[in-house]
Amino acid sequence: MRIREERTSDIKAIHGVHELAFDSSAEAQLVDLLRSRGVAAISLVAEDGEEIVGHILFSPVSIDPPACDWRALGLAPIGVVPDRQRQGIGKSLINEGLQRCKERGFHVVVVLGDPAYYTKFGFMQSKHFGLGNEYQADEHFMVVELTPGVLDSFTGLVKYAPEFNEADC
Ligand SMILES: CC(C)(COP(=O)(O)OP(=O)(O)OC[C@H]1O[C@@H](n2cnc3c(N)ncnc32)[C@H](O)[C@@H]1OP(=O)(O)O)[C@@H](O)C(=O)NCCC(=O)NCCS
Repeated sequence: MRIREERTSDIKAIHGVHELAFDSSAEAQLVDLLRSRGVAAISLVAEDGEEIVGHILFSPVSIDPPACDWRALGLAPIGVVPDRQRQGIGKSLINEGLQRCKERGFHVVVVLGDPAYYTKFGFMQSKHFGLGNEYQADEHFMVVELTPGVLDSFTGLVKYAPEFNEADC
């Protein structure tokens, strides 16, 4: 199993991964929409032999009030095909994804998800850093610093790309 950047030839398989991983096709459609609008900043697949078994996407998030040094991404969505879950594939996608975010000069990654899962990767509750979200999420809205201490400089409302409000998820 290896983690690599998505290729054009993976698009259909990635759509299929999210349709299988989630209960609806909303996340699969969101990925297609983000890619088509050019806001899929980092998109990685987990490949096992010829098969794509997982996918993770990162897209830019803004902060309001705006801050010029804010370089942040949102992790969403991540999906692993059901018969390959709990085998470490999600973990590899997240660890490799965060590493690549850091290498590309991003300081911060946010996620909206299960704290029991994401705290394993260093995510902490965003509210402790004065970061809000548009979804009335409390402990499920989390953040990780890729540059230690950087969150001391920012507070405000974190906003995902507008495509997240267009997709039904
Ligand atoms: C969530 C998801 C991506 C996790 O991927 P995965 O490959 O099954 O997870 P991993 O095997 O890498 O698990 C990594 C660790 O998290 C734990 N874990 C896995 N799923 C978990 C969950 N739902 N809640 C809490 N812990 C979880 C594992 O036990 C493992 O712990 P360990 O490192 O201490 O052994 C996958 O289950 C999935 O696609 N789910 C459906 C779609 C979804 O919910 N996506 C996330 C939306 S925010």
